[in-house]
Amino acid sequence: MLSDEVLARLIAAAKSSSEHAYCPYSHFRVGAAVLGGSGRIYAGCNIENASYGLTICAERSAMARAIGEGETELQAVVIFTPTHQPTAPCGACRQALNEFGPAMDCVCVCQGEEQIVTTLAELLPWAFGPRNLQV
Ligand code: THU
Repeated sequence: MLSDEVLARLIAAAKSSSEHAYCPYSHFRVGAAVLGGSGRIYAGCNIENASYGLTICAERSAMARAIGEGETELQAVVIFTPTHQPTAPCGACRQALNEFGPAMDCVCVCQGEEQIVTTLAELLPWAFGPRNLQV
């Protein structure tokens, strides 16, 4: 379970990264922060593209930074959107995150008080992952 202190650091990192979101098409700013197995935190934001389909979500942007720095497991993900209601990760991000932490905690926060506090396993039941390929 996440300590209040680590959760606060994850939220601050996600919020801060959302300020760097490149979202000229949707104007929907997202920041995410992941907690690596080492205890280090990595943040990322959504990066849109003129071709639309090449857009990278904040969660995968944060995940890429973590894996690129040598993390092999993720313990938690926090998503921040400057909205009145929290935003849960999209389906593609659920699948992508599952690769490195099927049991990770997931907390979605926003400008309002409401939070979604859940786990990836709850968001992506019966997930397809690396274990399925062990034949
Ligand atoms: N977006 C994310 O960054 N994460 C999600 O889980 C949902 C969607 C971004 C992608 C796009 O830049 C914008 O939000 C609108 O879909």
